[in-house]
Amino acid sequence: MTRVYVCSCFGITEKQVKEHADAGACTPRQIASACKAGTDCGSCVRRIQALLGRGACPRRRLLDQGEPALSELSAPPAPAAPSSALQDLSKVA
Ligand code: FES
Repeated sequence: MTRVYVCSCFGITEKQVKEHADAGACTPRQIASACKAGTDCGSCVRRIQALLGRGACPRRRLLDQGEPALSELSAPPAPAAPSSALQDLSKVA
């Protein structure tokens, strides 16, 4: 098994960067947040950017297709009142 190191300061491999990209990291800053790569000498940032190029990030693919990268949050459905609670209320009234 050959490990290709991207960030020698933190021992981060290409595989790890791609795994973070698959998990949703689309920018070098997001990769840095995930594993610190690029936060010391910074010499690996361009290489990380290259790895994050087209196709590496699912959200970037959506943006390229004109789709919103983040979907709007919809309001969760209102919880249904348990029938026993309604029966208790009928006793009060
Ligand atoms: S090689 Fe990545 S921060 Fe130095």
